[in-house]
Order: sequence, then structure tokens, then C-alpha cells
Amino acid sequence: VLSTLLDYLACPTCGGDLSDDFRERDGDHVMTGALTCQGCEARYEIAGGVPRMNRRMEGLENISRTFGFEWKAHHDGKFEQETVYGHTPETDWRNFLDRLGTTDEEVRQSAVLDAGCGSGNFTRLAAEHGAKIAIGIDIHDEVDGAFAHCRELDNAHIVQGNVLAPPFKPAAFDLAWCSGVLHHTPDPAAGHRSLSRLVAPAGTLYVYVYSKRFNPFRFVKTLLDGVRITRLPQPLLLAFCKLISIPSLGLLQAYRLVRKLPPLRAQSPRALRTVRARGLREIQLTWFDALSPEFNSRHTEAEVVGWFRQAGFERITPNEEPKVSVRGMASP
Ligand SMILES: C[S@@+](CC[C@H](N)C(=O)[O-])C[C@H]1O[C@@H](n2cnc3c(N)ncnc32)[C@H](O)[C@@H]1O
Repeated sequence: VLSTLLDYLACPTCGGDLSDDFRERDGDHVMTGALTCQGCEARYEIAGGVPRMNRRMEGLENISRTFGFEWKAHHDGKFEQETVYGHTPETDWRNFLDRLGTTDEEVRQSAVLDAGCGSGNFTRLAAEHGAKIAIGIDIHDEVDGAFAHCRELDNAHIVQGNVLAPPFKPAAFDLAWCSGVLHHTPDPAAGHRSLSRLVAPAGTLYVYVYSKRFNPFRFVKTLLDGVRITRLPQPLLLAFCKLISIPSLGLLQAYRLVRKLPPLRAQSPRALRTVRARGLREIQLTWFDALSPEFNSRHTEAEVVGWFRQAGFERITPNEEPKVSVRGMASP
């Protein structure tokens, strides 16, 4: 029976088993120590409760740094307080169940992977709802904040690692959630292949990536990339995002009013999502999230469905909202 974090981990370099040298524990968390690969002898530190297993990081420096800055600012309370991207924990949990096509009961019997866990928000939610184990993995420099967010839960763990070289055993997870991550990698299809290998037979993988359809935040990014504003040092870029969030909020409010007029009333799921009330801090996070990462690829539903088909998934189900988000079941 897989029960502890080590049961799920494998060497991200060669896939070998790991032997542990745990120096300090706190409940089910190993606070300091090291893991050594029994195959290639690579050694991975465990520091601050987080195994540090980033591998194949060439070209990912900007992504690791910029999201580290973003999530540190988030944990320091510089963006939203009670929500992430405007969603309360209740909305996030409903979305998690709907999009994975699962239930609270199934989660309680599942090992859950939160790939590209960011703040650790969904890792914590899955653990709180009783997952056998919930493991969040992310490459950014601020995984300590994600660990602090999850620390009180013995079944929640954070690992620093790259979804393109994930430090897990094959077929280890019953439910794998990857929301808003693969388009920030240089090779999203390869990221999907890596994640597919981690899903147990009859387990479910859910992936959300940016769509090719029009989005005002990403349109502005394309313009600003041209004049290199998006390459500003992160603190300056954050100040810029705070500045442009004020007129953005004004424009969004005006748009909301217009979409309340009977002939233009928002009805589709996408329109309703666009006109929902937003706070200034959510818009600041959204701007920073949109402008700062180096990689921001966009995809079509057909392309993502193709990734699932190639990996041999069944019951491939695209969601209407958000575009493009798709789940599939690994063949039993
Ligand atoms: C937009 S955030 C989404 C965070 C989270 N999934 C959520 O929905 O709140 C994207 C996250 O993907 C992570 N990420 C990007 N490339 C990654 C990679 N190659 N391996 C692991 N994480 C990655 C970033 O560090 C960032 O935290």
C-alpha cells in the first residue's frame, strides 16, 4: 500500500528507486534530509519539508524565477487574500470535481497529483477533502510558501520538480490535475506525455491550457512583448501591473454594465465568466500572470484531444469552459 511521499517518488534523471536519509521529521513530513538514487546515484536534498528535485531546467530559469516571485507576493498578501484568481475555495473545489468528473467519495480513495501547484491551493483542497495523499509539484523558487500553505495536513506534500522530468513512479496517481501549467513550458505536448505516464489504469488526467481564441490580457502581452516591457525586472513589472489594473478594472466594470442591458445580456458560460465581479487584486494577479512568463503557448481543443488520444486515453471529454480544458481516463 502506498502511503508516504517516498512511495511515490522516483529519480527524475533515470527513474530509479530512491533511498532516504531522513534527518528531521514533523508528523508525516520530512523536514530535512536527502534522497539518493539507487540507479544513477543522483542526490536530492530535502530542505524546509520539500524534496528539491528540479531536473532538466535549461531554458526554464525565467519561469522558475517569475512564478517564484508571483507566488511569494501572493503568500505575502500582495494580491488577493481569500481567493486565488478570484475563486473561493468552495468554487475551486466544485470546479476540481466537475472538471475531473469525480466525486468527494472517489477523492477519498485517490492519490492526487497537483501538477504545477503554484500556491499549493489545489493540493491543500484535495488533502482537506480526504485524499489518500495529495502531492503538489512545481519548479518555482517559492515552493516553501506552498509547503507552508499545506503543512498542517499530514496527507499533503509539496515537491520541487519539473513536469517535463517528473520525479514520480509510473502510474502512481489516480487523479492528476494540471491547470494552467503546460502552456508555460517550452514543450506542452511533451509535458502531457510525461503526466500521462503518471496516471494509474482507469485513473483520470485533467489538463487546462490557454486557448487560441481572443483574450484581452494575452493580446496586450503580445503588444508589450514587442516593446520588451514584459522583460522588466519582476518588482518593476509588478508595479506596472498594479498601475494598469486601475483602468482595467474601470473598463471591466463598464463592460459588465453594458452586458446587463437586455439585448446584450451575458448568457453563455464564457460571457458569465467574463462579467463576474472582480477585485483590483485579482486583476493585478491576472496581469502579472499574463505578462511575466516567457512561455505562453496557445492551443486548440482538437490539439489537446489529440495529445490524450496519442497517450491511449479513453472517455476523452472536453469542457465547454474554460477553453481549452480536457480530461481523459487512462485505459483500465
Ligand atoms: C498559472 S500558474 C497555475 C498554478 C495552479 N495550477 C493554479 O491553478 O492555481 C502556473 C504554474 O505552473 C508552474 N510551472 C510552469 N512550468 C512548470 C514546469 N515545467 N514544471 C512544474 N511546474 C511548472 C509555474 O511555476 C506556476 O506555478
